[in-house]
Amino acid sequence: DMADYLVKFEKQFTLTPQRMRMIVDSFIEVLERGLEKKGEEVPMLPTYVFGWPTGQEKGSYLAVDLGGTNLRVCHVELEGDGRFEVTQTKFRLTEEQKHADAQGLFDFCAECLDNFVKDNFGDDDGKVELDEPLPMGFTFSYPCEQDRIDHGVLIRWTKGFGAPGAEGEDCAAMFKKSLQKYNTPVEMVALINDTTGTLIASSYVDQATKAGIIFGTGCNAAYMEKVANIPKIKHLNLPEDAEMAINCEWGAFDSTTHEHLPRTSYDIHIDETSNKPGEQAFEKMIAGLYLGEIFRLIMCELIDEGVLFLGQETYKVEKPFVFDTAFLSLIESDPTDELLTVTGLFAHFFSLDTTIAERQFMRRLAILIGTRAARLSACGIAAIVSKQALLDDITDVKKQTVGIATDGSLYNKYPKFPQRLEEGLVDIFGEKGRAIKTYHAEDGSGVGAAVIAAMTKARKAAGY
Ligand code: BG6
Ligand code: GLC
Repeated sequence: DMADYLVKFEKQFTLTPQRMRMIVDSFIEVLERGLEKKGEEVPMLPTYVFGWPTGQEKGSYLAVDLGGTNLRVCHVELEGDGRFEVTQTKFRLTEEQKHADAQGLFDFCAECLDNFVKDNFGDDDGKVELDEPLPMGFTFSYPCEQDRIDHGVLIRWTKGFGAPGAEGEDCAAMFKKSLQKYNTPVEMVALINDTTGTLIASSYVDQATKAGIIFGTGCNAAYMEKVANIPKIKHLNLPEDAEMAINCEWGAFDSTTHEHLPRTSYDIHIDETSNKPGEQAFEKMIAGLYLGEIFRLIMCELIDEGVLFLGQETYKVEKPFVFDTAFLSLIESDPTDELLTVTGLFAHFFSLDTTIAERQFMRRLAILIGTRAARLSACGIAAIVSKQALLDDITDVKKQTVGIATDGSLYNKYPKFPQRLEEGLVDIFGEKGRAIKTYHAEDGSGVGAAVIAAMTKARKAAGY
C-alpha cells in the first residue's frame, strides 16, 4: 500500500550528511578541473568581469534579460551609493520562440527593446533623439564561452531551449545584428550570465556576498576567483592579483559518467526524454523546470500500479510537464489539516478526486523531492565555499557571514527551500555552516547587467 511506497521513495530521495560530503568532495575536484582547461564538463567560464564593484557605479543603463521563462527589458538608474531604480517590462516566451530559428528570437528581443526605448526615451511620436547611444547589458543565461565581455559563443542551449542556429555562434553578435535591423540607439557593452549579474548586483549593496546563485527554471552559480587560480587563462597575462568572476555552469555536474549523484529512474527518464539527453544532470534534479515532472512521473507509475486514483480517468496527469513545480509549492504549503488546497488543485486541473490518504502521501512526496533539491544545492554551495576556504576565518557564526546571493522562483517561492538549504549546509559543515547565509538579491539580472556595464565602461575609459 501507500505506506510501503513511501518507505521506498524515502530511501531513494533522502541524502544523508555523509553522502552529501562525498558529493561535495567530488564537486570541488570538478570545479578545479574546469578552471584548468577549456571544454570540461563543468566549464567554469571566465566572464571578463574583473573584480567587485565599488558600490559607486552610477548612471543610466538598459538591460535585456533572456532567462528561461521570461524576456525582460529594464531601465536601471544607478544612484552611485548602492541604491538603484528599475523600470521594466516583461514578456513570457512561447514554446515556439524557444525552438524556432534563433535569429528570430534575437529579433524579438530587439523589437521589445526598441519599443521600450521608444516608450521611455522617445517623444510623443516615439522619436528618440539622444546625444549618444544608451549603454546596454545583455543577460543571456546559457553557457557561453567568452573571449571578451561583449562576446559569447553559446556552448549549448539549456532549460529546454533548442532554437537552431545559435549553438557554436556568438550570440552577442547575433543580437547586435537584430538591433541593427531596428536602428535602436543602444550600445551593447556586456553579455553576462544571470548568476554573474546576481553576484555583482548583490555585492553592489552588500559586501558580504561571495557567490551568486540562481534557483529558478535552471540552476547555476557564479563566484569571484583569483586569476592566479585559473590556469586556462594564463595566456592573457593578467596581473597575478587580479580577480575575475567565474560562471560555473554547475548544472552540468556529473552528466557524463553519473558516478556522483544518486539519480532515480525518474531522473533518468527526464534526462532521456529531454531535448538534451546526457546534459545538465545536476540541474535536472534541482531546477524548477523539472521538479514537478519528477513528481508527475511518480504519480504515473503509481497509477499504473493501481495505487492512486483508482477507477478514475487519469489522462490529464499523464501528459508530460503538465504538473508545474508551483503545484508542489501549493501542496507543501497547504495550511489545512484536510489538505483542501490539494483537493482543489487535483479537482480543478486534473478532474481527479483524492482521498485524504492520497493527499497526505502526495504531500510527503513533494517534501521528499523539494528537500532533495535543496540538499543537492547545498552540496554545490559547500563546494564553492570549501574551494575558496571561506569558512577558515570564521570564529563567530553570529557575527561573521559568508553571503550567498540568490534569485529565481524556486528560492523565492518554494516553501522552506531556503531553510532546507541552510540545514543542508549545517549537515555538511557542522555548526560553522551557520555562518553561510543565503538571501534574495534584488533584481540580479537587471541591476547586475547595469553595474557590470558601468564597471566595463570605467575600465575602458581608464584604458585597460
Ligand atoms: C530573475 C532574474 O529574477 O530570476 C533572471 O531576473 C533569472 O535573470 C531568473 O534568470 C531566474 O528565475 P526563473 O524562476 O525565472 O527561472
Ligand atoms: C541554466 C543555464 C545557466 C543559468 C541557469 C539559471 O543552468 O545554463 O546559464 O545561469 O540556468 O538561469
